[in-house]
Amino acid sequence: MTFARYPDQWTKLREDRSLIPDAVEELLRFESPNQYNVRYSMRDVELHGVTIPAGKPVFLLLGSANRDPAAFEDADVFDIERDRSGPQSLAFGLGIHSCLGAALARMESALALGHLLEFMPEFEVDFDNCQRVSMQNVAGYDSVPVRVRARLQ
Ligand code: HEM
Repeated sequence: MTFARYPDQWTKLREDRSLIPDAVEELLRFESPNQYNVRYSMRDVELHGVTIPAGKPVFLLLGSANRDPAAFEDADVFDIERDRSGPQSLAFGLGIHSCLGAALARMESALALGHLLEFMPEFEVDFDNCQRVSMQNVAGYDSVPVRVRARLQ
């Protein structure tokens, strides 16, 4: 879906597959599959002049943090060649309970992108007939109809 909205990025990726790992990172940042987590504060924490008291549920909007203009330049732009030397995305959480499957998820995503580049080098998404997953915190799709316009020989 994202590459269909940003076809120039798909072309870039098709022309240089060494960008696949960066594309995976940018997808994780730009369309964070896990949009939020809920955690409890262990102690009083002051952020931006507001105190979150100890023992309170905190709604952590990872998807929003990953579009934070204070952390990412042109945060709302999908750019697979983005400079990654600054803040990292929070798509897999942070700290000792960050995602245990992150390495596997990254590998699967990179393999999937490689196969999609082969299978549908040029494609159109039928946006009107896509179906989202019905999960609370997951931004994703159950069904994405695609018309393949060209295949590599
Ligand atoms: C793109 C795919 C995935 C995303 C975006 C994702 C994201 C996350 C996030 C945000 C957390 C919470 C981290 C935190 O509390 O700081 C988490 C936890 C976790 N994830 Fe994933 N995940 C993905 C795939 C996977 C896969 C493939 C596995 C297993 C094979 C997995 C296993 C886990 C486990 C076990 C935890 C709990 C870790 C803990 O509480 O110590 N995840 N994941």
